[in-house]
Amino acid sequence: MTTTGPDSRSVIVTGAASGIGRAAALAFAAQGARVVVADLNPEGAAAVVAEIEAAGGTAVPVTGDLSEQAVVDRVTATAVERFGGVDVLVNNAGIMDRMSAVAEVSDAEWERVIRVNLTAPFLLARSVLPHMLAAGRGAIVNTASEASLRGSAAGAAYTASKHGVVGLTKSLAVMYRDQGIRTNAVAPGGTRTAITVDVEAGAHGPAALAPYMGNVGRAAEAEEQAAAIVFLASDAASNINGVILPVDNGWAAV
Ligand code: NAI
Repeated sequence: MTTTGPDSRSVIVTGAASGIGRAAALAFAAQGARVVVADLNPEGAAAVVAEIEAAGGTAVPVTGDLSEQAVVDRVTATAVERFGGVDVLVNNAGIMDRMSAVAEVSDAEWERVIRVNLTAPFLLARSVLPHMLAAGRGAIVNTASEASLRGSAAGAAYTASKHGVVGLTKSLAVMYRDQGIRTNAVAPGGTRTAITVDVEAGAHGPAALAPYMGNVGRAAEAEEQAAAIVFLASDAASNINGVILPVDNGWAAV
C-alpha cells in the first residue's frame, strides 16, 4: 500500500459525485484502489464511476442520503461484498448552510446541516469500524473546513457542524490508534466546486462575515484537496493521526 505503486485497497468516498469527493475518487482509482462512489446524486455518481472505468479503474456507485442508517449500511455492505472489506473511508459529503447567524437559523436548517455534515460521518465511521478492527488496520479521512478553525468562514450551523467534525476526528484518532486505525481531516479553504451554487444568503450572515473575509487567498482546485486526502489515507502518513490539515493557501495562518 503506497501512494505511487499498485494499490488495490477498498476505498469508500462519500460525496463522490462532485467536487472534492469526485477528485478524490478519481485520484484513489488512478492508484488502482477500488472505490465505492457514494452520493445522493445518482447521475453524478454514475458519471464518476463511468469515468473511473473508462480509465481502467474499478468503482461501484451507491446512491442515497448518507444521513440515513439504511443507506450507510448499504455503502459498507457494498464495499465488503464487492471489494472484501474497507481499507479507507473518506467522509466528504457535506452541505453549506445559508450563512445565517444563530438568530436566523431555523430548526430545519440546523438539523439538516448537522445531520449531513456531522451525523453522517459518525454513522459511516461506526459502520466501517468493525471491518477495520477485524483487519487490524484502516484509515479514515474526514473533510472538515476552514469553518472548523474559525467562526468567520460560514454560518452558525455549518461552523458548528464542522467544529464537530474536528471532535469526531480526534476522538476516533485517540480511541482506535492502538487498533491500527488512523483518522485525520483536511480543512479546505475556499475551493472551486458546486457547493455554493444553491446557497440562498441569510439576512445577517454574509454582511456580518464580510469584514473577516479579506485573507481567504486563492481558491483551491478540488484536485488539491484530493491530493491531501490521498496522502492522509496512505502509508506515507503512517504516523499522522488526529491531525486537522488546512489546505487553504495559508488562510488559517493569517
Ligand atoms: P459539492 O457540492 O461539489 O459536492 C458535495 C457532494 O456531496 C455532492 O455530490 C452532493 O450530492 C453530496 N451530498 C450532499 N449531501 C449528501 C447526502 N446527504 N448524502 C449523500 N451525498 C450528499 O461540494 P464540495 O465543495 O466538493 O464539498 C465536499 C466537502 O468539502 C463538504 O464536506 C464541504 O463542506 C467541504 N468543504 C468545501 C469547501 C469549498 O469551498 N468547496 C470549503 C471547506 C469545506
